[in-house]
Amino acid sequence: MRVITPIALDPTRRSSEATVFEQVLRRSVVGQYQAISAVVAIYQMYMAGLNAPGRPVGNFLFVGPTGSGKTRIAEAMAQALYGNVGAVVKIDCAEFQHSHEIAKLIGSPPGYLGHRETRPLLCQEMLDQAHTDKVKLTILLFDEIEKASDALWQLLLGILDKATLTLGDNRRADLSRCIIIMTSNLGAREISSLAKGGFGFAQKLKAVEEAHDEKINRTGTDAARRKFSPEFMNRIDKIVVFKRLRADHLAQILEIELGMVQQRILKASRDRRFLFTCTQAVKDFLLEKGTDAEYGARHLKRAIEQNLVAPLANLVASAQVRLGDFVRIDRTAEGDLTFTRELLGARGVNGWEPSSDIASMPPLTAWAARWTATP
Ligand SMILES: Nc1ncnc2c1ncn2[C@@H]1O[C@H](COP(=O)(O)OP(=O)(O)O)[C@@H](O)[C@H]1O
Ligand SMILES: [Mg+2]
Repeated sequence: MRVITPIALDPTRRSSEATVFEQVLRRSVVGQYQAISAVVAIYQMYMAGLNAPGRPVGNFLFVGPTGSGKTRIAEAMAQALYGNVGAVVKIDCAEFQHSHEIAKLIGSPPGYLGHRETRPLLCQEMLDQAHTDKVKLTILLFDEIEKASDALWQLLLGILDKATLTLGDNRRADLSRCIIIMTSNLGAREISSLAKGGFGFAQKLKAVEEAHDEKINRTGTDAARRKFSPEFMNRIDKIVVFKRLRADHLAQILEIELGMVQQRILKASRDRRFLFTCTQAVKDFLLEKGTDAEYGARHLKRAIEQNLVAPLANLVASAQVRLGDFVRIDRTAEGDLTFTRELLGARGVNGWEPSSDIASMPPLTAWAARWTATP
């Protein structure tokens, strides 16, 4: 018999797909590392084909404060898998409060009024819509489940357990390729009050921070156990408690959101694509306007829309900016935002010819550097 030298294996190592998946999530979701590692672990399990058969790939319950990234992470997963945040199948539970609205999810029996009118949201075609030859995983989001009706709960319980669903016309939908994410702002109040007491110089100490995280986890989990039945809780693979975002998190989110505004401008106004930059004074102003204990990053987004996007939209609509312009946004000592065009629109200058294809444009940063470097 041949003697083989034993080799120690490393079960913590991740595949390159899982690493890329994680990187995309980390780029778009700030401060919620527990949630990211939970979904990456399940993704790795799925990629290895070792997820339990006859069940969804993963059943997650995300609880915690409003505007802390619960919905965002599901969108970011769709982005990571399919390059499109819209690839998540999203059920807003608040829209299905009444039992008869369940027909929008599963369809109505043959012969009923409305049968065949629209495709039910949970039919196989809709679930598999985003699948490609390489990726056949569905991100199925039940948002704000505390608002779900009893009928929706029953439906959910069935899905979580057996990963199948009988539709109105008796066909079956198979949900065994779904990662199911349910969100709820349960525990938000308790977590917020913990956060108030928890931060100061102590946040720098890792042990203190870990103990604090632990407390937040317990608070969120307890709130879920009080509200939801054991039958439901037993079907959850992991409860992830989202933390309230801190000022440094919001500053990072601001950078991400400004990048998204830039993308929007590049996509929306084909013949007036321009770049903008904000000074630190503007960013500080937006952070100050956008910090709100109750609504988390949602409030920041609103501040960006009101103070930045709306005036930029006016500039576009009134044709004050042209293709290739560079707009600098600053703040005066009096506190007003100023918008200055620093470089004139220059079709074809600098070797960049406008193209109808956004993807063919040079990366933004390289582009911006080149533009600003030109006298
Ligand atoms: N942790 C986060 N990282 C990055 N962006 C975030 C985060 N939390 C919230 N946001 C921003 O705020 C918006 C609202 O957050 P969302 O995920 O919908 O909140 P909720 O936790 O209530 O589901 C998101 O679309 C995103 O732009
Ligand atoms: Mg949400």
